[in-house]
Amino acid sequence: MGVMRIGHVSLRVMDMDAAINHYANVIGLIHTGTGPNGEQLFKGWDEWDKYSIILTQSDRAGMNHVAYKVEHDADLDQLSEKLQEYGVKTTMHKAGHLPDCGRALHFTMPSGHEMYLFAEKDAVGKAVGVRNPAPWPDGLKGTGAHWLDHVALACEVNPDKGINTVAANHDLFRDALGFYLSEQVLVGPDADIRVVAFMFRTTTPHDIAFLPNEKSGLHHISFFLDSWHDILKAGDVMAKNNVKIDIPPTRHGITRGETIYFFDPSGNRNETFAGLGYLAQPDMPVITWDEDQTWRGIFYHTGEAHAPFTEVIT
Ligand SMILES: [Fe+2]
Repeated sequence: MGVMRIGHVSLRVMDMDAAINHYANVIGLIHTGTGPNGEQLFKGWDEWDKYSIILTQSDRAGMNHVAYKVEHDADLDQLSEKLQEYGVKTTMHKAGHLPDCGRALHFTMPSGHEMYLFAEKDAVGKAVGVRNPAPWPDGLKGTGAHWLDHVALACEVNPDKGINTVAANHDLFRDALGFYLSEQVLVGPDADIRVVAFMFRTTTPHDIAFLPNEKSGLHHISFFLDSWHDILKAGDVMAKNNVKIDIPPTRHGITRGETIYFFDPSGNRNETFAGLGYLAQPDMPVITWDEDQTWRGIFYHTGEAHAPFTEVIT
């Protein structure tokens, strides 16, 4: 079936001890190992692969790469061909290039973001097991995030220079990787310039989102919670831990997600969200938000701009 879902995000952090505390005790991920270069590996309790977050020490925040998991190892060869036909340079790395993973296919998105596809990663299982499991495990910390759900990438869009890497990423993901468009924002006098694209391979409204910015970077990574009440509780967790909140609990128009945004100690934006929104399917009519309704799409209740949300990226 090709791409299944998001596999992991490799993040740059500037204070590893503070980052470990954040992802373990605030997000509530489980520490599952240390990579060969000192990378710290984490997973959500509801995930079965060994990790969905890699933390790497750096002097700046941001994302090293995002990786998506494909179903079969042979898919990597087929997708490499498709990417090359599309004019994208690919590199197939041997097993072990990504910690505890099989072969890894690397390419760079038109927006400049680094991406890998892989088929195999060591599995350690869900915290509740698979035999007569409890609905949740004991000892959860922080928000108790279930899984890494999606990533939202800030992509350079500069109409004056004719640059729109949101549109370029969208076309590549549609044509070479088989992603589907669920929601978009169209702007311009003829409402034909796609500056926001939410795309999926699973059955949820987005597995990746492309957002416009003056420069490319990481907008946020997002973890799934079960309910609106869990989002409220996540706000409590942020306050208890003096975590900088970007947007208190609210609802998106786009995806209908219930959400809270905050920052890790290095300034990488995190989201915990609840509500699977709707059943996303390849034949679902694409949802379009008009230029003057963009902020309604982002924050449904107020419909008002919150400048840091669009300006702060890492
Ligand atoms: Fe999100």
